Amino acid sequence: MGSSFILIPSPCKGDTRVYSVPKLDDYSLPALDGLAGDLTSALKAESAAVRNEQEWKAFRDRWLSRKSGIVTQLNDLLKAAPKESKREVGQRVNQLRALIEEQVAAAGRQASAPGRAGDQLDITLPGIRRPLGAEHPIIRTMNEVVAVFKAMGYSVAEGPEIETDYFNFEALNFPPNHPARDTQDTLFIAGQERKPQRERLVLRTHTSPVQIRAMMASPPPLRIVCPGKVHRRDAADATHSPMFHQLECLAVDSNITFSDLKGTLDHMCKALFGSSVKTRFQPSFFPFTEPSAEVYVSCPFCGARGCRICKQSGWIELGGSGMVHPNVFEAVRGYGYDPAKISGFAFGMGIDRMAALRWDIHDIQLFFEGDVRFLEQFA
Ligand code: DAH
Repeated sequence: MGSSFILIPSPCKGDTRVYSVPKLDDYSLPALDGLAGDLTSALKAESAAVRNEQEWKAFRDRWLSRKSGIVTQLNDLLKAAPKESKREVGQRVNQLRALIEEQVAAAGRQASAPGRAGDQLDITLPGIRRPLGAEHPIIRTMNEVVAVFKAMGYSVAEGPEIETDYFNFEALNFPPNHPARDTQDTLFIAGQERKPQRERLVLRTHTSPVQIRAMMASPPPLRIVCPGKVHRRDAADATHSPMFHQLECLAVDSNITFSDLKGTLDHMCKALFGSSVKTRFQPSFFPFTEPSAEVYVSCPFCGARGCRICKQSGWIELGGSGMVHPNVFEAVRGYGYDPAKISGFAFGMGIDRMAALRWDIHDIQLFFEGDVRFLEQFA
């Protein structure tokens, strides 16, 4: 029965071979069984090819429609059969009709089942894009400063953000009740009145306590930088935040001088802001350095002529610095730091304001609000 497959345009994509019932003039049993076999395999092939609702409807109509469906054609075949063959033909037509109805119903269930024929995997669809994170501008600035020091042989040290009074103040030569403590706007952890003062916990007000921790961890010579978060009781505004970031620097060896401090900071400024900037030191006071100095860099935006960014002064303040106070070494003498034999310099700078300057950001709150529309601009 090869002629039972005819080629006609088909709504069932990918296979244009569609079954139609042939005219019979041979009603012998082998001829009837051959027809039934051809029809059954065509039915199953078409049924298996149905992928969606639309294809299923076309399939259903082709086989079941009253007007010209295959079942109607089978009925016509029965009508045309000679009397003596009606029994055999009728039996097969009934079986085939039942099979057709069953296959059409099954294909309908498949076509509407989610994840099956209806939405087969389409590998040409674009994939699911996972948004890539970007380095936060504060972290990026920090990493750039750290990289400058790493290239000079410095290691990176870290310390806790919840710190004891001892590390945050006492070991750094802020005696109890010393007025210099008031300059730090400290946030204290509540409910510690029964502890000795040096054990009471504060949110560290600067990264300087890591100087002490680093010296306790390794004997001299020592070169470390410590980036990190610090906290102060400050109201949030365009230039202040109760949480901000500092980078601490400490170098200790047998013969460190103020010239080393100047040279190191001058190198750092040139690496960060360009080789034409100048550095300036202005006398200051910190309990843990003597002498102490504030560090300024000439405004890289106007070449120190004066502009909005440097507030017409030509200079931008970077942080505090100085030679490590002998009392600080005294606190870690037991770890190999004899103030008579060694010397060191230290430096601490604010990162947030530097990042704000660099990208001309007028409100440092933007760094902490987590607004993706702001942050994605640094990607
Ligand atoms: N810790 C100081 C502050 O937060 C800054 C500072 C000054 C750090 C002098 C230093 C230093 O290492 O030597 O105000």
